Amino acid sequence: MTTLNIKNPFNAPVYHEETVESTMDVSRRLASGGEPHGVVITADFQEKGRGRLRGRMWQMERKMSLPFTVLLRFECAADIPPALTLRTGLALLLAVEDFAPSLAGRLKVKWPNDILYGSKKIAGILCEADGGVVHIGIGINFAQKEFPQSLAAKASSVSLAAGIDIDPEKRFCLLEKILSSLYEELENKKADGWKCRLEQRLYKKNENVIFIEGAAGSENKIKGRLAGIGESGELLIIPDGETERRSFFNGELFLG
Ligand code: BTN
Repeated sequence: MTTLNIKNPFNAPVYHEETVESTMDVSRRLASGGEPHGVVITADFQEKGRGRLRGRMWQMERKMSLPFTVLLRFECAADIPPALTLRTGLALLLAVEDFAPSLAGRLKVKWPNDILYGSKKIAGILCEADGGVVHIGIGINFAQKEFPQSLAAKASSVSLAAGIDIDPEKRFCLLEKILSSLYEELENKKADGWKCRLEQRLYKKNENVIFIEGAAGSENKIKGRLAGIGESGELLIIPDGETERRSFFNGELFLG
């Protein structure tokens, strides 16, 4: 493991590995070894990158994506900031737009953990917690100019979305911007009002949606208008034929 020479406002090391199974597992080992709040592990390649949905892999090409995990320590689980995944999404979106200014205002946060360009995903977030220790895993499609046929209709990259060739080595410049943006969002008191800022960038806000409630594979389909986000990061939908917002903590929005 080497240490990258990039700025980390959390004031902790940014570690780099060529190949890991998953940066989430490395982050857990770093936590057990007593590494501090804000430490980061990134890798050129993950053999077993995992997604939020059970059994779903996060696929990547060596150095063309940017996978990393940020380890955050809180006194206890109750101190973990609310809506952490969504707020990480907002910070990530702003950092990507700062990195590629032609994307400014064009990315969306799709509840609960994706960054989209149009209806294509360019990044995903996976938060795992053990008590007050949180591992924020982020995977960004960075320099890819094309995707395998199975992903082409639903995936994009920073390079494709911005319409530019990007040197894969620039991915650590993006990492630096993300760490700065995440720090501002989570540790700077000025960042209050996240819900309002997030809703401005929320995929399908005020539009009609189809939502599959509950665990993956559930048949419980809800049609309605996406009204926004609640204080804990829950999705608020006004189902067709109803007048009140209903809160959903688990499920998946239909793309389209
Ligand atoms: C999702 O889209 O469902 C979440 C994808 C999260 C992928 C990142 S890549 C870095 C970290 N390590 C993993 O194994 N997963 C996360």
